[in-house]
Amino acid sequence: MSDLSDIRREYTQGGLRRGDLPQNPMDLFEKWIQQAKDAQLTDPTAMCVATVDETGQPFQRIVLLKRFDDKGFVFFTNLESRKAKQIAANSKISLLFPWHPLERQVAIVGEAEPLSMIEVAKYFMSRPKDSQIAAWVSKQSSKISARQALEGKFAEMKAKYAQGEVPLPKFWGGYLVRPSSIEFWQGGEHRLHDRFMYSKTDSEWQIDRLAP
Ligand SMILES: Cc1cc2nc3c(=O)[nH]c(=O)nc-3n(C[C@H](O)[C@H](O)[C@H](O)COP(=O)(O)O)c2cc1C
Repeated sequence: MSDLSDIRREYTQGGLRRGDLPQNPMDLFEKWIQQAKDAQLTDPTAMCVATVDETGQPFQRIVLLKRFDDKGFVFFTNLESRKAKQIAANSKISLLFPWHPLERQVAIVGEAEPLSMIEVAKYFMSRPKDSQIAAWVSKQSSKISARQALEGKFAEMKAKYAQGEVPLPKFWGGYLVRPSSIEFWQGGEHRLHDRFMYSKTDSEWQIDRLAP
């Protein structure tokens, strides 16, 4: 077995104090994602999305956050993919933003709901043409024989849609994740990290400090 036990570091970039916390967690999220962009992190909008299958087995994958507001967090994907099937059976979901260079993570728990076709179409039309074509080409999460099969289909669709707009595939869509809790984690000295969890109550967000 490879021993990785001596890979560790101190977290020194600063703390998170209760006085720093806005009442609305989305305000803090907006500040942190802006700082992740300003720090030029690779893929600052990348988040790990966890879903479970019908036996309770979790699976995670990276997806890009495309929008957020007071309602929640939006991402786009194939509606016949593994994640979409799992969400259809169980809409409980968790998102995680791993902003290591800033010694931060944000962990979100909530429920995913499908976006309307209008919202999906609006985003699909804004994508580069090759990405639109790629959406048609990939039966996401299905088994395929070889890469050539994908490349052949891509060339075929590219020729088909050389002129005019690429239509929205029926099997392509997105989700709004409505959060019920959002935890902000900031690394601290001597492993005394700061963790604050916002939990949604009927009328507002309750804020609790959690032990690291
Ligand atoms: C940086 C990065 C960004 C990704 N963004 C997306 C995305 O926005 N939507 C998506 O469906 N898959 C995205 N993927 C691919 C997913 O991680 C995953 O392989 C795919 O969605 C199939 O997942 P599933 O089989 O669990 O449904 C991304 C992967 C990486 C590494």
